[in-house]
Amino acid sequence: MSNEKLIRKFDKQAKVYEARRKKLTERVWREKLISCAKGRVLEVAVGAGANFHYYPKGIELTAVDFSLNKAKTAAADYGIDAEFQLSDVESLSFPDNSFDTIVSTLSFCGYENPGTVLDAFQKWCKHDGQILLMEHGISSNRLIGGMQTLVDPLFKKVVGCHFNREIIQILQSKLQINRIEHYMFGAVHLVWASPNK
Ligand SMILES: C[S@@+](CC[C@H](N)C(=O)[O-])C[C@H]1O[C@@H](n2cnc3c(N)ncnc32)[C@H](O)[C@@H]1O
Repeated sequence: MSNEKLIRKFDKQAKVYEARRKKLTERVWREKLISCAKGRVLEVAVGAGANFHYYPKGIELTAVDFSLNKAKTAAADYGIDAEFQLSDVESLSFPDNSFDTIVSTLSFCGYENPGTVLDAFQKWCKHDGQILLMEHGISSNRLIGGMQTLVDPLFKKVVGCHFNREIIQILQSKLQINRIEHYMFGAVHLVWASPNK
C-alpha cells in the first residue's frame, strides 16, 4: 500500500482514535507505562494524543505522526506544550542521544521495517535513556494466533497495520528489555526497555 493511501486511511481513522482518547481507553496500561516518562520525550505515531493525559508534569515532548489531525487538540486539552512534526517515522532523523525517553504505543504493527525504526530509536535515545512501548502482535495462544494470521491480510487492508507480527522477537532482537508485561492472551505487551549500546 502506498504511503499516500495509508495516510488517507489513518486520517479517516483519526476520529475513532480521538473518541478512544476521550474515553480513556486502555487507561490502566497507558497510566502504568507513560507515567515513567521523563526529560526530553519523543513520542512516535502519536495518533490523537491518547497518551497525553498520562505524562508527568515537566516533560518536554516532541510528537511525530504522518497524520496529525487530532493530536494538537489533545495537547491543548491537557495543557501539553509539544513540538509536533508531521513526518513518516521511517524517514525521520534526529541527532544521536537526543532523548531521555522514547514512547511508542500501538505503532510497530504498522511500519514497513520495524527493525529499522528500532535501530533509529537506539541512536536517538541517550545511553541511560529509556524506551517505553505498548505494542500488540501475535497471541501466545495458538488458536488465537492462528486466527490472527488468517485475518491479517484483511486487517492490513482495512485498518492499515498487521495483526500477527512477531513483536516480542522483533523487540528482543534490538533492545535491552528490562521489564515486560503481557495481556490479552499474550497479544498486548507493555515494555520498559533500554537502548542496546
Ligand atoms: C493505531 S494508531 C496508534 C495511535 C496512538 N499511538 C495510540 O496509542 O492510540 C497508529 C498511528 O500510527 C501512525 N503511523 C503509522 N505508520 C506511521 C509512519 N510510518 N509514520 C508516522 N506515523 C505512522 C498513524 O497515522 C496512526 O496515527
